[in-house]
Amino acid sequence: MERVHQIHHPEISEVLVYPTKELTVKSASQEIIELVKLNPLASITYATGDTMIPVYENLATAVDRGLVDFSQTTAFHLDEYYPYSQERKFSFVKFLNNYVFGPLKINPDNIHTLNGIAEDPHIEAKRYDDLVSKRISLALLGIDPRGHIGFNERNTPFDSRTHLALLSNETLHRDIVERSQDTPNQALTQGIGTILEASQILLIAYGIGKSSYIREALINHISEFCPASALRLVGKKVTVLVDEKAGNLVK
Ligand code: GLP
Repeated sequence: MERVHQIHHPEISEVLVYPTKELTVKSASQEIIELVKLNPLASITYATGDTMIPVYENLATAVDRGLVDFSQTTAFHLDEYYPYSQERKFSFVKFLNNYVFGPLKINPDNIHTLNGIAEDPHIEAKRYDDLVSKRISLALLGIDPRGHIGFNERNTPFDSRTHLALLSNETLHRDIVERSQDTPNQALTQGIGTILEASQILLIAYGIGKSSYIREALINHISEFCPASALRLVGKKVTVLVDEKAGNLVK
């Protein structure tokens, strides 16, 4: 693709910097489409967030045009607020229903979600972890405050499994103050260890707001201080796609 710049990273097989958000999104969408064409039975973990919306819209367009078929794939989601019902406005299940599960016409029998109102969150986390464990073909990830992936905040152990997480002050500030959400201060999230088991991992980021997290994840020491730095432990199966703004501190 035009003017893409590849950074030679010691641990991560592909770190690609695109001149624009649009090209980053296009490339991410193409990677996902190619994977599903090669493996129509792929199991995919879907992240939520603004970053993913244009990617999912591209996938939906490709499905509508008959260019790819997601109907036999299996869908997992990454994280959900707790306690928070999927009927509520900012539920991640609701987000995925709207942007992924419906538009990509995934067979409802193949959709696995975390229950944000499960009576016992620890039992729910264990149930989900048993389901998701060692079967993900592709995990899609965004990145946010202090390099969190899913809702694995700073100092989450790299071998963590799906669990109930306490959200950091930065994440709460983003959600409640900046985004005016009515969401709680806890969430169920696939653990870092769970995420790292995926056969392929795609991290997508664009915009200047993500540049310091990308730098922390890719350049600073690998440490539980930056959850996303764990991706470097399995870097051979990781692709990082960023625009120039998000990548401007790693070039
Ligand atoms: C939430 C999710 C993360 C996601 C992040 C990015 O915190 N738990 O998995 O990476 O949002 O959000 P956005 O793409 O809106 O910046």
